[in-house]
Amino acid sequence: MTTVETATKPFVPAPDGVDPATVPTKTLPTGARVPVIGLGTFGSDRYSGEEVAAAVMDAASVGYRHFDCASVYGNEALIGQSLQAILQGGVRREALWVTSKLWNDKHDAADVIASCEQTLKDLRLDYLDLYLVHWPFPNYHAPGVDVTARDHKARPYLHENYLRTWRQMEALVDRGLVRHIGTSNMTIPKLELVLRDARIKPACNEMELHPHFQQPELFAYVTRNGILPIGYSPIGSPSRPERDKTRDDTVDTEDPVIVAIAERLGVHPAVVCIKWAIQHGQVPIPFSVKRSQYLASLQAAVSAPLTDEDLQQIARIDRNCRLIKGQVFLWEGSRGWEDLWDLDGRITK
Ligand SMILES: NC(=O)c1ccc[n+]([C@@H]2O[C@H](COP(=O)([O-])OP(=O)(O)OC[C@H]3O[C@@H](n4cnc5c(N)ncnc54)[C@H](OP(=O)(O)O)[C@@H]3O)[C@@H](O)[C@H]2O)c1
Repeated sequence: MTTVETATKPFVPAPDGVDPATVPTKTLPTGARVPVIGLGTFGSDRYSGEEVAAAVMDAASVGYRHFDCASVYGNEALIGQSLQAILQGGVRREALWVTSKLWNDKHDAADVIASCEQTLKDLRLDYLDLYLVHWPFPNYHAPGVDVTARDHKARPYLHENYLRTWRQMEALVDRGLVRHIGTSNMTIPKLELVLRDARIKPACNEMELHPHFQQPELFAYVTRNGILPIGYSPIGSPSRPERDKTRDDTVDTEDPVIVAIAERLGVHPAVVCIKWAIQHGQVPIPFSVKRSQYLASLQAAVSAPLTDEDLQQIARIDRNCRLIKGQVFLWEGSRGWEDLWDLDGRITK
């Protein structure tokens, strides 16, 4: 792997930022504290690794301490330079919360530890705070392929196989390479099995959550089981790749309820989505490489909360509109993207 040195600037806290000590945290059963907002790092097709790495560095300078990474985002080596500069600039490692994820082509038991070690090397860290199984389906795709592409080796959720992967995730905790492990893109039927059989239970479940996709049953299930929900695409992923958009997708930031609250508060509708997420109880991880945006999102976590009336109104605008459908992960014999999400309450094979 070639190392590209981009983090040339030293890390300096910004005078107009948010004091990280004022950002609320969620406490996990281990006692670890997760900042209630993190910065997403998936640049989609739009933003280069260099831009995302620069945003990580500057986001830390305005007060972010939580970063949501993944090997498949293809930018961990660049983000690692930023994390190193942040730590060298005086931020304590314990003050950071860094998540990464095991990609779908590394589910084989033999690959899990090596994949995590590569991520640690790329991120220039000794340990991760959280390591997630990114999707519960094994498959491989070249980056950027169309949603109609299919991998002939793609498989549905097979609990026995997932458990073999999970045993290696548990081994990562035993070895001290990761502090917590978790799931992502799961459903209740799948989590039932994982919770039944796991020696180390998932600490967090990363799931799509925004006003138009509130997933009330899954949200209630994970919280009831002591799992912290981390909400991805909290603004409704307006910059997701065109190939991931469908005609029926709705736009959270254009919803009249969100727009009216934003106008009253004099903020962007995205900020209302972030405030709602935090008050609702998940940890949102909005993505942005634009300073004004990621600063506004962080300020959303420390400024006056939405009113009960706002929250009640937002509760009523759920459209059950899943934006990240995952079509490309379908296996031979599957009917459509709905099969990934066990919509009839049973695991679809
Ligand atoms: N576990 C998983 O499978 C999974 C799946 C998807 C995402 N994720 C994670 O979740 C993160 C966030 O999700 P996402 O990128 O899909 O969607 P998102 O955070 O809902 O949307 C990001 C976009 O919203 C706009 N934006 C951000 N902050 C704003 C602000 N304060 N004001 C106005 N506009 C703002 C920006 O658009 P412009 O750039 O156009 O200005 C930005 O690119 C990802 O980066 C990744 O870390 C995880």
